[in-house]
Amino acid sequence: MTFTRESLHAYLAGRPVILAPMEDVSDAVFRRLCREEGADLCVTEFVNVEGLLRGCRSAARKLSLGADDAPTAIQIYGSNPERLAEAARVAEAARPAFVDVNCGCWVPKIAGRGAGAGWLRDPAAMVAMARMVVESVSLPVTVKTRIGLGPESHMPIVDLARRLEDAGVAAITLHCRTAAMGHSGAADWAWAARARAAVSIPVVVNGDVKTADDAARALAETGCEAVMVGRAAIDHPWVFREARALLDHGVRLAPPTADERLELCRRHLRANVAERTEPFGVRVTRRHLTGYLKGLPGAAALRKELLFCDTLAGCLEILDRAAARLAA
Ligand SMILES: Cc1cc2nc3c(=O)[nH]c(=O)nc-3n(C[C@H](O)[C@H](O)[C@H](O)COP(=O)(O)O)c2cc1C
Repeated sequence: MTFTRESLHAYLAGRPVILAPMEDVSDAVFRRLCREEGADLCVTEFVNVEGLLRGCRSAARKLSLGADDAPTAIQIYGSNPERLAEAARVAEAARPAFVDVNCGCWVPKIAGRGAGAGWLRDPAAMVAMARMVVESVSLPVTVKTRIGLGPESHMPIVDLARRLEDAGVAAITLHCRTAAMGHSGAADWAWAARARAAVSIPVVVNGDVKTADDAARALAETGCEAVMVGRAAIDHPWVFREARALLDHGVRLAPPTADERLELCRRHLRANVAERTEPFGVRVTRRHLTGYLKGLPGAAALRKELLFCDTLAGCLEILDRAAARLAA
């Protein structure tokens, strides 16, 4: 499913709740799972343009979107405008919903080399790059960025949002922290409200949206069209259905039941092992299990048992024993 600029705008106007791009998290397996739990739109992990243009295996895996993996945008990152434009063309051939350019990654080995949030050091260069990428593809191009690099006195985002709109960018996702903050400190949604007021393209608010109530509040406080959830989804993918129920019907869903929690562990483990085989498929699922099992009686002991088990069959047995214990 691909969008035109107009259909993307119409889609975003429906207040979608979006799964954030997260390296080693927002892969095809997790996207499917989040979508099943109500995520409206997903964005892939960021794909390095050099790897992508070399056709390296991990980039090719990230670019490959299954037929049911829609709508999903592909996110690319790099420091060279021509290479980004070329990579956007390759990404476009994979038929994503749209192409997103990462201008927000704060990690020194990326931002320090001019990619990700490194673009915020030179807003004019960022805008010129965005224009070049927009002109190189027919799909809509969006930009995900932060409110600035460092101190508030140097917050370029409002002016930058206007200039990105002029460059033809179809929408902006704003992680409401500075690059210097990394992932710590509170996200300041007021900047999303300011950026939103300055442009007529949709703005997606991101940062510290942890619950359905946060999603509703972020949309109401900023006037943004859409909301993006990152870390909260790692532990609690049900956040998507909870946000949808609240936004669409004003209903606060009950938390997932013990059965649902155990079943999500099984589903995620099975899907990751099918995709990656043992033991890797089991290991990459572990980061989610603490959150999935949260609040269950005996969760700590259960987590520990799962932590030392590398096989799918072993994990399923542990989960079945836990289900029997809970039912007794
Ligand atoms: C493990 C992890 C990986 C991330 N990888 C990416 C990425 O590939 N591209 C990107 O734009 N942002 C990435 N981010 C940032 C998130 O998309 C998001 O902007 C950030 O976590 C703030 O949202 P949150 O408070 O809902 O988590 C990553 C964040 C985390 C925690």
